[in-house]
Amino acid sequence: MKIAGLPEVYLGTKKNTMAIKTIIEPFRIKMVEPIRMSSEEERIEYLEMAHYNPFLLKSENVIIDLLTDSGTSAMSAKQWGGVMEGDESYAGSRSWMKMEDEIREQTGCEFILPTHQGRAGERILYGHLGGPGKVFISNTHFDTTRANIEFSGSTAFDIPIDEGKKPSVEHPFKGNMDVDKLEELITQHKPLNIGAVILTVTNNSGGGQPVSMANARDVAEICKKYEILFVLDSCRIAENAYFIKHREEGFENHTYKDIAKEMYRLTDGAVMSLKKDGLVNMGGFIALKDPELAEACKNLLIITEGFATYGGLSGRDMEAIAQGLKEVFRPDYLKYRIKSTGFLGDNLHKMGVPIMRPTGGHAVYIDAKAFYSHLPVNQYPGQALVLDLYRKGGIRAVEIGSVMFGKYDENGNLIPSPMELVRLAMPRRVYTQSHVEYILEVFQELINEKDKTKGVKIVKEPKFLRHFTSHFEIIE
Ligand code: F0G
Repeated sequence: MKIAGLPEVYLGTKKNTMAIKTIIEPFRIKMVEPIRMSSEEERIEYLEMAHYNPFLLKSENVIIDLLTDSGTSAMSAKQWGGVMEGDESYAGSRSWMKMEDEIREQTGCEFILPTHQGRAGERILYGHLGGPGKVFISNTHFDTTRANIEFSGSTAFDIPIDEGKKPSVEHPFKGNMDVDKLEELITQHKPLNIGAVILTVTNNSGGGQPVSMANARDVAEICKKYEILFVLDSCRIAENAYFIKHREEGFENHTYKDIAKEMYRLTDGAVMSLKKDGLVNMGGFIALKDPELAEACKNLLIITEGFATYGGLSGRDMEAIAQGLKEVFRPDYLKYRIKSTGFLGDNLHKMGVPIMRPTGGHAVYIDAKAFYSHLPVNQYPGQALVLDLYRKGGIRAVEIGSVMFGKYDENGNLIPSPMELVRLAMPRRVYTQSHVEYILEVFQELINEKDKTKGVKIVKEPKFLRHFTSHFEIIE
């Protein structure tokens, strides 16, 4: 099926001419993982078995898995080669030194601590800095960041700029932090009580939107003025660097890696989940400049993660990380990465599907409340869309709306989330342009039958993080 309005070229803005060529995947495929094709009838059955919750589906019954971009990257031949060379020594592993060198070079931080994933670093750093009475401020805390901060007894404030909260508004750096609010919050809560200011790049919970260097500089200046620790959540820093180079004046001639280094230079340290821009399936780190803070974190690391030269990782993981962190900054890779997410988002936009604009770096966020405008929020339009995507196309996505964030008032009525979004997260180097065209075709079918979609109700739910395990039913 041909989609109306689908450009002939990969994200080409003009007609297909000899001058503009398709942006191709900058890799050849050497090893393949078969996808089992299923029929709509089968998927209706699988959905029933999974109680209409995509987290309860078997992955082998999914055709295109867009649940997350985290830990789902394809590794390169060089990374797999490194896996065979991993040094599994308990202490002083050669693979650790390669990983440490690369991270030290990029972050400019003296003290690097390996962790098995991002949230392990968050637990160590924010657990140490936090505690009752402390306050953390971010453009938007990712769920696990907030959970670790709140678990320590501290409070977390999200202060994205106003544009960042409106899905349809176009802005080049919608991930920016509201610096006026930052100063207000610091004065209100007193600098001594601020555990840290955390800038998340790109802003995952805010639509994968980038943060500008100018904004990072402003945040750094305010943190310096009040002597507050400034931490970067750098999960997607390479993707953020791409947007800076192409959208912010003065960076046209910088390399992506230099832009990332410049951003790290403004901070006191970073926490990174390497499952994103590390191009690996597992890993993370904490990078710090202050020796005393690093020492305290190292002690916690040894108690809970592992010795300071592996921190919960195998030597082979660390070998793949050292290589992945180099590959992620390659211009051909980053161009393909950002343009392919844009290809999905921009074509959905052209087809009239309401999405968070402009398209972010790692994912497309659909505004399900606008797409299924006939469904009230207490019938979970986001979950309804997730179910339709799976039933029609075997595509797995995740609801980021009232299923995830909804609460109840004292009468048991739903207090909905401000937005009803569905995230289509793109794994790195995994799917090709034809997979994306297939996703667009499935959306065309959903558009044609939009008004027939029924709402959803929750029939069983746990007390916390209900989206993972709740059971749903279709409202007939
Ligand atoms: N920070 C951000 C911005 C994230 O997106 C994530 C994970 C983490 C921290 C935690 O890292 O998973 O390695 O412990 N995001 C994944 C997602 C889970 O699907 O967006 P982790």
